[in-house]
Amino acid sequence: MIKRYLLLAGVFATIHNSLCVYKVTVIGSGYVGLVLGTGLAEFGNIVTCVDLDTEKIQALNNGIIPIFEPQLPEIIAKNVKEKRLFFSAAIDESIKTADAIFIAVGTPTKPDGTADISAVELVVERISKHINKPTLICTKSTVPIGTNHAIEIFFKNRGMADLAIIVSNPEFLREGSAVHDFFNPDRIVIGTNSSLGSDMMRQLFAPLFEKQTPVLITDPTTAETIKYASNAFLAVKLSYVNEIDRLCQAVGANTHEVTYGMGLDPRIGKYYLKPGPGFGGSCLPKDTRALLQTATENGIKLSMVSAALEANNDQRAWIIHKIKSHLGNTLQNKKIGIWGLAFKANTDDIRESAALYVIKELLANGAQIKAYDPAAMQNFKKEFPTLCYCSNKKEATESIDLLIILTDWDEFKEVHNDQFHLSMEKIKILDTRNILFK
Ligand code: UGA
Repeated sequence: MIKRYLLLAGVFATIHNSLCVYKVTVIGSGYVGLVLGTGLAEFGNIVTCVDLDTEKIQALNNGIIPIFEPQLPEIIAKNVKEKRLFFSAAIDESIKTADAIFIAVGTPTKPDGTADISAVELVVERISKHINKPTLICTKSTVPIGTNHAIEIFFKNRGMADLAIIVSNPEFLREGSAVHDFFNPDRIVIGTNSSLGSDMMRQLFAPLFEKQTPVLITDPTTAETIKYASNAFLAVKLSYVNEIDRLCQAVGANTHEVTYGMGLDPRIGKYYLKPGPGFGGSCLPKDTRALLQTATENGIKLSMVSAALEANNDQRAWIIHKIKSHLGNTLQNKKIGIWGLAFKANTDDIRESAALYVIKELLANGAQIKAYDPAAMQNFKKEFPTLCYCSNKKEATESIDLLIILTDWDEFKEVHNDQFHLSMEKIKILDTRNILFK
């Protein structure tokens, strides 16, 4: 191990007390890039997080964290203070000086369901113009199967195969618990055809290897497929449990006990069995659609994955149906309180959140909304600027015909024996997350 450190250190990095310190550039300072850059700095690497968005970089340099992610501000502040973490808009300069470059830019859905990888392509193009020594180029963004192979060919065609050490290292962290997930991953998947690539990854993430995190070293195409297959499986599991919840309600079974009973079987497992208003976020819906597109392009029919998306749309429609039946089948001038706008608890992210769909439908049917979310109202205002936003959960329950709970924030679960909570007993509530269950 030490020998390998020294060998690599001779090529790339400086040695401090026999530990390898790499200069790392993370391109893309969003939910994934910021957590990754901060985590790698915490491991002792010297990290620069870069982004095209100069305002975001300026904010970060002023100590303002542009996203809500528990524990992230503290750990960023610590690493900035200890001079291991920097933020910069000088992308080209950061590419030139890096031993390792991580690509963590967005790959949103295009109208046809495929993933838009234009940001990844631009970054790769830019890297090819500026690297001047062997450099690890690691894709963290979720990219369609075959993309890392295409990146390898890209560098090969430019005679740069020796300079570009290509690694696919899919990210499995969840927003809202991203810092915890980064430091305690279930597994590390490294897809590379280069032994130097896997050795560098081992050193960059040394503390995770030391604590015996399961590691799978494979080829890039397999690594990319693991990522998509995992997210699509979670989508299938959630759609399944949402359907079972509907059945439970119809036959009078207790959903909590049904899912608890199912989860006791280790072959099923207890996680991802909580019914909700349909899964959302920037990953499960997008990656499921992208996987379906890839399958179609390869002449493969993924009926289960396709059904998961269909069931998710049905779940959203089912919520609207339930709202209507609570309110005598008309929404015209009905006053509705909404608790939760984020796609799940502990995040300010509203991408593909159930609230976007539900609120759009309610407004289209003439309802009046009072909305509250502990972290996501700023983001929601960009989509719905004129909605009535409340400063706390209580305000959103005043003079309403129905309260809808869409996000499983802890503060919505708290039940005290005070006047407010007693008054809640008089309110009609549609709890799409089953969090008020006692
Ligand atoms: C998801 C995966 O869980 C991560 O492993 C992956 O790294 C990430 O996508 C990604 O590809 O970057 P994330 O989108 O942050 O993570 O959110 P999840 O925690 O998976 O939740 C997704 C949706 O499922 C949310 O709307 C959530 O409320 C819903 N959900 C989750 C349920 O309704 N019930 C559950 O039991 C769990």
